Amino acid sequence: MKLTSLSEITYLVEDELKQFNELFKKSLKSKAGLVDLVARYILRQKGKKIRPVLVLLSSKISGGINERSYRGATLVELLHTATLVHDDVVDNAEKRRGFKSINAVFKNKVAVLMGDYLLARGLMLAVDGNDFDFLRVITNTVKRMSEGELVQINKTRKLDNDEETYFRIISDKTASLLSTCCEIGARASTKDENKINAIKEFGENLGMAFQIRDDILDYVGTTKLFGKPLGGDIKEKKLTLPLIHALKNSGNGESKKILSAIKSGGNKLDIDYIVDFVKRHNGIAYAENVSKKFAEQAINNLSIFEDTEIKSGLQSIVNFVVERKN
Ligand code: IPE
Ligand code: IPE
Ligand code: MG
Ligand code: MG
Repeated sequence: MKLTSLSEITYLVEDELKQFNELFKKSLKSKAGLVDLVARYILRQKGKKIRPVLVLLSSKISGGINERSYRGATLVELLHTATLVHDDVVDNAEKRRGFKSINAVFKNKVAVLMGDYLLARGLMLAVDGNDFDFLRVITNTVKRMSEGELVQINKTRKLDNDEETYFRIISDKTASLLSTCCEIGARASTKDENKINAIKEFGENLGMAFQIRDDILDYVGTTKLFGKPLGGDIKEKKLTLPLIHALKNSGNGESKKILSAIKSGGNKLDIDYIVDFVKRHNGIAYAENVSKKFAEQAINNLSIFEDTEIKSGLQSIVNFVVERKN
């Protein structure tokens, strides 16, 4: 398979992304000194901007980009940024996008409040633009993302995650937002519910593939490319698909040993041992395969759309997501 880079896709909406960036920056402006300081710190770290790209491409494929598409793109990136800032508090993460996380630089208190601030600014943008259809969608997404994170916390306490629950967690915490990006993009430019539903399903399946890849990278990625340390999920006692599969496929004795290594809190030796265990029991290959299945479904969801450059762009995002190294 050809390795897809994101820039091969984003050029399709290059000018539009510039406009989005302006609005995103403007939406982070504040007269309050500390807010502005943290906001400027956030703006220096470039994320992949997959979500705004999805909004813009979904608008384009459903009818065309307009003012609402830009507000939608900004709204989802603000919400995404808010959840990352909160996520790093929840996960005790020191790094994000290759830089120190907000909680590491400004402490948890600031990160929690800044996350709320970002979410509020996103919602305000939609209120000011009278985009109540966006608000209906996004408030449900925020609810699902919080639920997903809370179920995940509960599972790390009990250390008994299974595949079914894992899929529910990642659908709620990640796929819901990617699906929302596509839905909002489409709603900005069409009322055709067939199109909206197809692109929404596309986003859901893409999101599942995306999070599974993210969880694989926690085992095989390189810190340098990924911008955060490996083994973070193990340290946080998160049982993700590669590990769930390996545990299911190993003998009772070894899986007990692994679980107690996880419980004892993941020093470097433990982490190396667990990573090796997951690889020996085919956890990575299995998860890659599942991720590809979701990717195939996402591609199928696009079948109602005519073959255009934009559709190829969306297909390339799918390939990028399952192959990505950052
Ligand atoms: C990270 O998302 C959070 C997950 C859902 C895994 P991204 O990998 O899209 O984050 P940035 O915005 O590019 O940093
Ligand atoms: C993704 O969760 C973040 C959200 C969906 C809020 P993770 O904790 O798995 O993501 P990373 O790996 O830190 O980006
Ligand atoms: Mg997390
Ligand atoms: Mg995290």
